[in-house]
Amino acid sequence: MSILAVAKLLIAFTALFTPGAEPMTLTFRNNCPYTVWPGTLTGGGSTQLSTTGFVLASKASFRIDDVPPNWSSGRLWARTHCTNDSSTGKFVCLTGDCASGQVQCNGAGAIPPASLVEFTLNGSGGLDFYDVSLVDGFNLPVSITPQGGGSCNATSCPADVNAACPPQLAVKGPDGTVISCKSACLALNEPRYCCSGDLNTPEKCPPTEYSKLFKDRCPQAYSYAYDDGTSTFTCPTGQDYLITFCP
Ligand SMILES: *[C@@H]1O[C@H](CO)[C@@H](O)[C@H](O)[C@H]1NC(C)=O
Ligand SMILES: *[C@@H]1O[C@H](CO)[C@@H](O)[C@H](O)[C@H]1NC(C)=O
Ligand SMILES: *[C@@H]1O[C@H](CO)[C@@H](O)[C@H](O)[C@H]1NC(C)=O
Ligand SMILES: *[C@@H]1O[C@H](CO)[C@@H](O)[C@H](O)[C@H]1NC(C)=O
Repeated sequence: MSILAVAKLLIAFTALFTPGAEPMTLTFRNNCPYTVWPGTLTGGGSTQLSTTGFVLASKASFRIDDVPPNWSSGRLWARTHCTNDSSTGKFVCLTGDCASGQVQCNGAGAIPPASLVEFTLNGSGGLDFYDVSLVDGFNLPVSITPQGGGSCNATSCPADVNAACPPQLAVKGPDGTVISCKSACLALNEPRYCCSGDLNTPEKCPPTEYSKLFKDRCPQAYSYAYDDGTSTFTCPTGQDYLITFCP
């Protein structure tokens, strides 16, 4: 074996055992009885993932296998009730729309209300952070399952919050059914719901009757801004993750 071949083998071995050096995989699964259109957003001005939006038929799966292991402030969600507008030809969705006019979101985020999956991947041997957030409201149930085979915990919002959404927070579709549920901050825009103004600390911004309504149904998900204690999950970096809609 030549010295070059040995060196190449060594480099390959190092890459194999350096945590977080390899791209990771996000797998999306749609267990809803209807089609959804997931969107992906990379925050902080970093490069977007190889896809920023795609269609996912009921019972279908889709993999993104080139996610950088240090993917920071990553957000995932699903759009529902999407159509190509007959007059403009633009792609529009009644929930989770990113207003790009097409299936790819191209760096635009979800317009609330939408159930959000949030990731901060470290990539240098530390921890991945992930959560399900209803801070911007809810549109469909979702779960995050680490796939490394270790002891990392899944998290989810498994309940249909739309079915319990009070009228003042509800967004209705053309047929009158509730298709998404606003957070109280979004619907009522008061400091005690948004933890804004003078109420911008955990001590001054306790849960409200509205945030409790979300928390009762989805105890593992963020129900309002200062819900960190029960809603943030961690796993050693280098995992793949499964995102399931309607788990
Ligand atoms: C992630 O790693 C790539 C390649 O090493 C680097 O270019 C990029 O700046 C890093 N991103 C963050 C958010 O640290
Ligand atoms: C919208 O139009 C595109 C391009 O013609 C097509 O691929 C897609 O299936 C359409 N989407 C819907 C929801 O009708
Ligand atoms: C990643 O984790 C390492 C080790 O725990 C830490 O030193 C570093 O600050 C972390 N980087 C980011 C971007 O969080
Ligand atoms: C998973 O959850 C259990 C029970 O709440 C907890 O004891 C354990 O520390 C968690 N594991 C991780 C990796 O967070």
